[in-house]
Amino acid sequence: MSNDEKMVVTPWEVRGKVDYKKLIRQFGTQPITDKLLRRLRKHTGKLHPQLRRKLFFSHRDLDTVLELHEQGRTFVLYTGRGPSGPVHIGHLVPWIFTKYLQEKFKTKLYFQMTDDEKFVIEQNLNLQQTKKFAYENALDLIALGYDSTDTSIIFDVEDIALLYDIALQVAKRITFSTAKAAFGFQDNTNIGWIFWPAMQAVPCFIHKKLTGENLPCLIPAAIDQDPYWRVTRDVAEKLGFYKPAQIHCRFVPGLGIGGKMSAREPETCIFTTDTPEMVKRKIWAAYTGGRSTVKEQKETGGEPDACTVYQYFLYLFEEDDGRIKERARQCRAGENICGDCKALLTERVTDFLLEHQRKREKAKDIIQEFTMRHKTS
Ligand code: TRP
Repeated sequence: MSNDEKMVVTPWEVRGKVDYKKLIRQFGTQPITDKLLRRLRKHTGKLHPQLRRKLFFSHRDLDTVLELHEQGRTFVLYTGRGPSGPVHIGHLVPWIFTKYLQEKFKTKLYFQMTDDEKFVIEQNLNLQQTKKFAYENALDLIALGYDSTDTSIIFDVEDIALLYDIALQVAKRITFSTAKAAFGFQDNTNIGWIFWPAMQAVPCFIHKKLTGENLPCLIPAAIDQDPYWRVTRDVAEKLGFYKPAQIHCRFVPGLGIGGKMSAREPETCIFTTDTPEMVKRKIWAAYTGGRSTVKEQKETGGEPDACTVYQYFLYLFEEDDGRIKERARQCRAGENICGDCKALLTERVTDFLLEHQRKREKAKDIIQEFTMRHKTS
């Protein structure tokens, strides 16, 4: 994969060097301005590092949701996961952020596990596999410390009876030509995939069905999911709901060159179940912004912006803004070498994962409490 490759960002594919400003223009979303951050801070206190560092950088109607919130109408959160394989650290980034929002705004969260989506889209997966991944991936979500009173995990196949009437309402109002324009469907696209956007819309509206209360929903997600919300927003008001609002994050880069962290390239991503040896091996093989020799590094300095190891500190493994700036400065000045950063990152990731793996085991005992079956029985 090369950085010069043309940028492609769809819900199924992220390629090339991603230009986030251009994406805002292309998708017609709004940038998260300093003014909006100040407004958020009134509710959250200290801003989350992912906001301070503009990793969440774009939105639709976040201001509207805050406005309603300030008038006393709260909202629900919705996010999800396509269970096509094991969870890697890139997936955890928006989930950690979602938990922060949930705690600050004291909201319900609906989390959709799309075992159906991954079955119809991925040629090589059968339904047992996607259902199994849905269960396994839910353990990772729960391991982050979510509370089952405020968090519901929807497993699409198992919960279809709950979802289907809303999906039908949505599906009836989206034409094939709209769906084709938004998603690029072709004549050889299977019809399960074509119906699927109606399913992804359902959790935006499910709260009313479950509680009788009509609340707006805010979706934290990577920006590649935006086409879904575009079509959902078109039908929301016709169905008597608020348009779903969104807050979009960047893609966590993989440890190789370019693109997002992708399970399709296992050596460039760190899975939550990786052993310390695997973590070490992957980080030491990572693409960095360093020079080819120590001598050159000392003379010309490295490029933190092009460095995947630095990005890991930025996204998740260095909370302190001062320290992260210092790390970048030292790199540019040639005061440290890549091995220093790799050693520290290996240590941080290993510590994080050992703790995560422990909590993930415990999640097996409580996962039932998060399910719709448990909640609606
Ligand atoms: N389509 C998403 C994926 O493939 C899964 C998903 C469903 C999702 N609902 C969501 C992601 C809401 C973010 C927000 O990963």
